[in-house]
Amino acid sequence: MAECSVKKLFEPASVAIIGASENPGKIGYNVLRNLVESGYKGKIYPINPKGGSAFGINMYKSIEEVPGEVDLVTITIPAKLVLGAVKQCAQKKVKFLSIITSGFSEVGNTAEEKEMVEIARASGMRILGPNIFGIYSANASMNATFASGVIDPGGVAILTQSGALGIAMIGKTKVENIGLSAMVSIGNKCDIDESDLLEYLIDDPKTKAIMMYMEGVKGGQKLIKTLKKVTKVKPVVVIKSGRSKRGAAAAASHTGSLAGADNIFDAVMKQCNVHRAYSIGEALDWCKFLAEAPQVKGENAVIITNGGGIGVLAADACEQYGIKLDVDLAKLKDAFATVTPSFGSLKNPIDITGGAGMADYEKCIRTAFERKDIHSIIILGCETAVLDGNAMQGA
Ligand code: ACO
Repeated sequence: MAECSVKKLFEPASVAIIGASENPGKIGYNVLRNLVESGYKGKIYPINPKGGSAFGINMYKSIEEVPGEVDLVTITIPAKLVLGAVKQCAQKKVKFLSIITSGFSEVGNTAEEKEMVEIARASGMRILGPNIFGIYSANASMNATFASGVIDPGGVAILTQSGALGIAMIGKTKVENIGLSAMVSIGNKCDIDESDLLEYLIDDPKTKAIMMYMEGVKGGQKLIKTLKKVTKVKPVVVIKSGRSKRGAAAAASHTGSLAGADNIFDAVMKQCNVHRAYSIGEALDWCKFLAEAPQVKGENAVIITNGGGIGVLAADACEQYGIKLDVDLAKLKDAFATVTPSFGSLKNPIDITGGAGMADYEKCIRTAFERKDIHSIIILGCETAVLDGNAMQGA
């Protein structure tokens, strides 16, 4: 099998930082610090024309001086100097660039961005960014970002077009106890896009669920094809901003994106089996659940509830999100009649009523587990004097 085209971006054997600095106030200092502190085992080459050293590593004065091959170069120098650095990296036969620097197509400087891509294409080099905060990859214990603090490894991969949102999401994942397999900032996506990155994540055993924050779509057909392939294997959750007129204008100046018609995006995501979330909190909640939950073997769900109202709300939500509640009602009645009160409801939702305690729930859940025609169980519980919410959560 051919090696994934972006494997070395996620698992580089060596990383250089053009613009590494001894000054803690600089982005180049912080990328170097994160790389060292995340335990990256490959070779690290900090580059600064002044020389010096940081974290016990001597700086090289230029990329040409670096001995041996360089898989990934992170660029943290001002925009006017980037093109020169890209040319030097191309000559050095660097494989990937992660260009953190802002000041390209998002501010109308499309010509220089195009030139960078042409130089890269001619030498076989690929570009992540520009206008990003970097890349984290659990497979390489590599934090090549300027986010603050440690990133905990885990099962969720995040691809984000917004750098600041990505950094905020790292903070939120820590609070919510969600581990990351990867965090990739894609910014203006002048070359590498979501589809390229998904090709790696699809086969990555550490990645159990994927979340994407998008402002605009480039290469729509390629993305549709890739998403259809990925969602057969693992869940994908997307947040797409720029849904309103003003939001679309903001996206254009943030990452140079064309937001496009939202209803079309929505329909396409449905076709690709992608879950669409409308807030970061919602998307992370889903990813946390999806990364930990086993793959369901079929599409029929059963709702078990002690409250009629929340059962109705859940049934509505199931319809909205395409969750099927189509288990044969006669069979449900047969199975659950002995474990539910006579005044309950044996339709789906199964309402075991407000008098139900933990023991009643347990009987119902066991019954549901035994049935081959029930593939997932949605358990709802309104806390009452006879139902201890804490005990239920812990069960
Ligand atoms: N090769 C290597 N190092 C060089 C070179 C070169 N050719 N030229 C300069 N340097 C060194 C500088 O000497 C400096 O090191 P020093 O601290 O030892 O003096 C270092 O590189 C950085 O250069 P500065 O001129 O000090 O640039 P500065 O750090 O102020 O800014 C930066 C560079 C951060 C890339 C800035 O131009 C920029 O684009 N900032 C925005 C980044 C951003 O927001 N990204 C987007 C998403 S993230 C988000 O939204 C939160």
